[in-house]
Amino acid sequence: MLQRPRRLRQNAAIRGIAQETRLHASDFIAPLFAVEGKKVKSEISSMPGYYRYSLDLLKEEVLELQSIGCTALLLFVKVADELKDNDGTEALNPDGLMQRAIRMIKETVPNLLLMTDVALDPFSSMGHDGIVEDGKIINDESVGALAEMAISHAQAGADFVAPSDMMDGRIEAMRIALDTAGFEDVGIMSYSAKYASCFYGPFRDALDSAPVDMINVPKDKKTYQMNPANAMEAQREVLLDLQEGADMVMVKPAMAYLDIIRQSKDISTVPVSAYHVSGEYAMIKAAAANGWLNETEAMVESLTAIKRAGADLIATYFVKDIINYLKEN
Ligand code: PBG
Repeated sequence: MLQRPRRLRQNAAIRGIAQETRLHASDFIAPLFAVEGKKVKSEISSMPGYYRYSLDLLKEEVLELQSIGCTALLLFVKVADELKDNDGTEALNPDGLMQRAIRMIKETVPNLLLMTDVALDPFSSMGHDGIVEDGKIINDESVGALAEMAISHAQAGADFVAPSDMMDGRIEAMRIALDTAGFEDVGIMSYSAKYASCFYGPFRDALDSAPVDMINVPKDKKTYQMNPANAMEAQREVLLDLQEGADMVMVKPAMAYLDIIRQSKDISTVPVSAYHVSGEYAMIKAAAANGWLNETEAMVESLTAIKRAGADLIATYFVKDIINYLKEN
């Protein structure tokens, strides 16, 4: 035989030399969930080992993330029901939880890249990413609200805004709004190809942000998030976001969409990130808790596959586990 591929697999040293994809601490984005209160660290029941933190404890958490070598944070907030309305007005409150959390994090760990979630759902009494009118999520009015939200995050100190709403034209609107307000250095990581996925279920538990069950409120997000059956359409979304000025694009979820990550990487001229979402984390945790999978191996294999598919950056709830694992291995 002239070709024996197994020669490059015969021991750990040679496998290391032949290894094509390697994970590094700077590949990861740590999602953070902030809540009101003091000394609150509440576990999300469908995301074992992942917590919502009040700002005093979130401060300790971001210091720990910095100390282990994590370089990027993605901030979400859980908003009290009484502050929610259809327009997501609370999202613009300069002293809202999001804005206070941004200020605290930038004071605590000024050198970490702080990205903030821009979408109305945590603030929406309807549980939608945009404004609902007559049973529809109205695009252009929603884009206006999202652009204001981006400015509000920039004023509080965000380095990057991360629009996760999937409205049409929001990247251009946000870019213009940010520049007009003097925030030309604030970047945009666009959730470009975000699918209408069941794998966001645990996240909606974490933030209590699922669409509400009311007449004239769509029960799902399928009129704005993408159909999981589509790939060509993801390329259209990525190309549009590049034209509109996105500094990074994202594919979400990750494991079931590795082809989309690869196709996006092949056409993108900016870094491609992938979101290893809450349901993907929950699946591994649940199988491991039952003794059906080795949690560490499942984590490493999943994250390596996402990077191999073309992700330059990966948002994952395993962020601390993987970074600590990489230190030891
Ligand atoms: C909403 C948003 C969602 C996630 C991030 N931003 C859920 C949704 O679209 O309903 C999901 C993240 C995860 O599941 O980990 N703007």
